[in-house]
Amino acid sequence: MKKVLVIGGGGREHAIVDALSRSEKVSKIYCAPGNAGIAAQAECVPLKETQVEELKAFALENGIDLTAVGPEVALAAGVADVFSEAGLRVFGPSKAAAAIESSKDFAKRLMAKYDIPTAAFETFEDYGEALEYVRKGTFPVVLKYDGLAAGKGVVIPETMEEAEEALKDMLLDDKFGKGKVVVEEFLTGPEFSFMCFVDGTQVTPMTLSQDHKRAFEGDKGPNTGGMGAYSPVPIITEEDIEYSLEHIMKPVAAAMVSEGCPFKGVLYGGLMKTPSGVKVIEFNCRFGDPETEVVLPRLESDIYDIFSAVADGTPMPDVKWSAKVTMGFVMASNGYPGSYDKGHAVTGLENALSDPSVRIYHMGTAAKDGGIVTSGGRVLMVVGTADTLQQAHDKALDAVGKVECDNLFYRSDIGWRVL
Ligand code: AMP
Ligand code: GLY
Repeated sequence: MKKVLVIGGGGREHAIVDALSRSEKVSKIYCAPGNAGIAAQAECVPLKETQVEELKAFALENGIDLTAVGPEVALAAGVADVFSEAGLRVFGPSKAAAAIESSKDFAKRLMAKYDIPTAAFETFEDYGEALEYVRKGTFPVVLKYDGLAAGKGVVIPETMEEAEEALKDMLLDDKFGKGKVVVEEFLTGPEFSFMCFVDGTQVTPMTLSQDHKRAFEGDKGPNTGGMGAYSPVPIITEEDIEYSLEHIMKPVAAAMVSEGCPFKGVLYGGLMKTPSGVKVIEFNCRFGDPETEVVLPRLESDIYDIFSAVADGTPMPDVKWSAKVTMGFVMASNGYPGSYDKGHAVTGLENALSDPSVRIYHMGTAAKDGGIVTSGGRVLMVVGTADTLQQAHDKALDAVGKVECDNLFYRSDIGWRVL
């Protein structure tokens, strides 16, 4: 029986822990740092996801058989490299391969070089030059900070004034740190998340999901890390999936090998079905959050075997998906994705979980005085499983209504494109 360490402490990691707890091969799960919900299914270890050396020491001391890495910050900090060098089995890409997410500029250049369909772009370091380029172009325009910004580094100005303000934040005031800006053509169409298990050139697709990036109903308000998701995505056809696999995911995996940074882990394609075909909006180097919370509950295969195949470079086992579908609502702190308060009591969770086809993944919670309090921007992901997306929607929304907290909001229109 195997001991597994999961690195991270959000809803994604809760869903990974939940999937690992269904494995017949896993006897013990640790999660660093975990959260109040994860603590019910794993032993939480008080180490931050970026304490790479301490995490390695923990894994060595505790005879961890396999480590699965959730967050991009840990991967960009080189956690997979450090674990591999220490002879530890790890599921997650190297720091070099994580650049596909941590640098928008790297990702865009790679796509340009290997003819992967994506929006036209130009990269700038100089505020004046970026401003001049935007002034000559059309609106809306897409401005992307070239670094990790927790899903908040993308701004889509409608006017020159808004563009000027965003470019100032990114290039003059270094709001996210010193960096470059990618200015991109604005594309339209439904987006979907295509996550694949990748080991070098071996690419195994997961079932599709769709996130909802904007904070408010009607896709209004600022971009967030994601406010809700469902799986699968009926508006995306088998042909679209085939195209995305053959013309985007497989060629990118091969390109990473050619560039000397083979990818191992979850390659996440944030794709858009535009009027001129499927195009890449972004790549991530890890499971999506909240997508993982709707995708992994549908996984019928043993996730330990899948992680092992990628970690060891052995052939991928069959990856099977349930015919049941899922939909989930994020409950976030008022003010998110801007500043928000922490420490508000959350109750009613047991009541919300009285329906066995509802799962609640904790995204940002902490234990306090025997209860649970909010500790992050996104706090809970409430997921319903059912035969149809409408039923999954209704179950999840019903459960959301049973959660009590005086500082949470959610979007009730998750799934509007398909319901
Ligand atoms: P990203 O972090 O690159 O995924 O961008 C966040 C969100 O901004 C995406 O999910 C899209 O909704 C939107 N977005 C990014 N790039 C574009 C684009 N080129 N055209 C239209 N919308 C975009
Ligand atoms: N939900 C989008 C992401 O994980 O980046």
